[in-house]
Amino acid sequence: MSAYDLVVIGTGPGGYVCAIRAAQLGLKTAVVEKRKTLGGTCLNIGCIPSKALLHASELFDEAGHGFEQMGIKVGKPKLDLAAMMAFKDEGVDGNVKGVDFLMKKNKIDVHVGTGRIAAPGKVEVTGEAGTTTLDTKAIVIATGSEVAPLKGVTIDEQRIVSSTGALSLDKVPKKLLVVGAGVIGLELGSVWRRLGAEVEVVEFLDRIVPGIDLEVAKQFQRILQKQGFTFRLSTKVTGIDTSGSRLKATVEPAAGGDAATIDCDVALIAIGRVPYTQGLGLDTVGVALDPRGRVITDAHFATNVPGIYAIGDVIAGPMLAHKAEDEGVAVAEILAGKAGHVNYDVIPGVVYTNPELASVGKSEEDLKAAGIAYNVGKFPFTANGRAKVNRQTDGFVKILADAKTDRVLGVHILGADAGNMIAEAAVAMEFGASSEDIARTCHAHPTLPEAVKEAALAVEKRALHM
Ligand code: FAD
Ligand code: NAI
Repeated sequence: MSAYDLVVIGTGPGGYVCAIRAAQLGLKTAVVEKRKTLGGTCLNIGCIPSKALLHASELFDEAGHGFEQMGIKVGKPKLDLAAMMAFKDEGVDGNVKGVDFLMKKNKIDVHVGTGRIAAPGKVEVTGEAGTTTLDTKAIVIATGSEVAPLKGVTIDEQRIVSSTGALSLDKVPKKLLVVGAGVIGLELGSVWRRLGAEVEVVEFLDRIVPGIDLEVAKQFQRILQKQGFTFRLSTKVTGIDTSGSRLKATVEPAAGGDAATIDCDVALIAIGRVPYTQGLGLDTVGVALDPRGRVITDAHFATNVPGIYAIGDVIAGPMLAHKAEDEGVAVAEILAGKAGHVNYDVIPGVVYTNPELASVGKSEEDLKAAGIAYNVGKFPFTANGRAKVNRQTDGFVKILADAKTDRVLGVHILGADAGNMIAEAAVAMEFGASSEDIARTCHAHPTLPEAVKEAALAVEKRALHM
């Protein structure tokens, strides 16, 4: 008889949430984690520490520029970087301990060590105490992702860093070179720019944040440039010389051409993440991967091997914590005989810069490519009373609605607190709302979400404050 109904390998937001839901549904559940602390990339070296530094650096920046305008005289703020890092570490510690508590509360066994699937129904765990084998009816692979390497460049996490090193620098670099204008590059670039670094971003494509609605991305780039970011688009880094006291990065136009050199003190490599399946024994048991190394799953998260499932960053789809969590819940429900499901059309994404960039659903480019006729409603924060009084008028709300049915197909918000505001759009879309539904919903005044209502009114060209 199997000791467990379910063994989950990896305790990131996918794995630990899956285990909790399975335990809630009465499955005898264990997790396996090779890291000393639970919580995966997100809690230890991802979402949580980056948001702690984004929060602290934003206040530091505001104290230097915004407080005086509100009549608050505090003098020039001084940076105690070690204390800021300790603040970040405390936030991480609190969160990972929270996961320990949740495992105990839900009576989930935690096995510390590296998990390897020896056969369907058998997970070998190798830790400090040696190797043990767990018998289980089902296995969920939730091993996440790791940093994508840049050919010809070695990450030392001191001067050439991934996001992990960029979350723990011991001094503010005079110049930070960011390779990749995606989410990590712009969030962590923002942190170090606010703390005093000069930040230059090199991006292979001719635009920043690929996948985001282009009009929104262009305005986002203009705002970041106003904040001091410089961008070299359509450019690639071909090597970084580490022999001198400063780094020398060689860059070339993406399409080929003359090389140039950029001097910098630290280079952040942020060109994406790749699924992590090393040492899991997938080739032994025959679990199929796609050409990008992701575990192939069907609509029920099942791999090609019976009894083995996969969720989160290690499978296809956006590499986001809440996507991994929702998949964790869905697969646990499926294993318990219920109807677990994830709606991939309504997964919000947020870039936690200032202003924030949040979106859910389709971009204009997506709709054009799919040949779907749509109407657009836009409303700028310069016309929102609360944004004005807060002096946070950068950005706008953009709603895309089906031209025939008025159903909301995409919402994009560039603005202060956009990450919180996008939740309204996600709920509306999940319920199949029309732009008229949002426009007729009473929004409290004075609040930033009134801009969402006004953008919905603007779909029918009847915004009230513009
Ligand atoms: P992970 O969180 O990567 O967890 C996988 C776990 O499996 C790890 O703990 C690993 O040690 C363990 N593991 C791997 N192999 C084995 C093995 N063989 N045996 C035992 N254990 C194993 N997403 C957001 O939604 N919002 C954000 O703000 C955000 N910020 C981010 C900031 C940064 C700097 C980074 C790098 C990522 C960020 N992400 C964010 C992405 C988010 O962290 C991931 O999408 C999420 O962590 C994926 O969850 P997961 O459970 O699939 O895997
Ligand atoms: P990303 O995919 O967001 O961006 C990578 C960028 O690098 C792209 O713009 C790409 O065109 C560019 N690029 C690729 N190769 C390049 C090269 N050789 N030279 C120059 N540019 C190159 O990846 P990123 O920022 O590394 O983040 C990884 C993952 O982590 C993302 O999938 C994201 O979903 C997740 N994440 C989410 C966050 C959030 O939700 N707020 C925060 C941080 C990470």
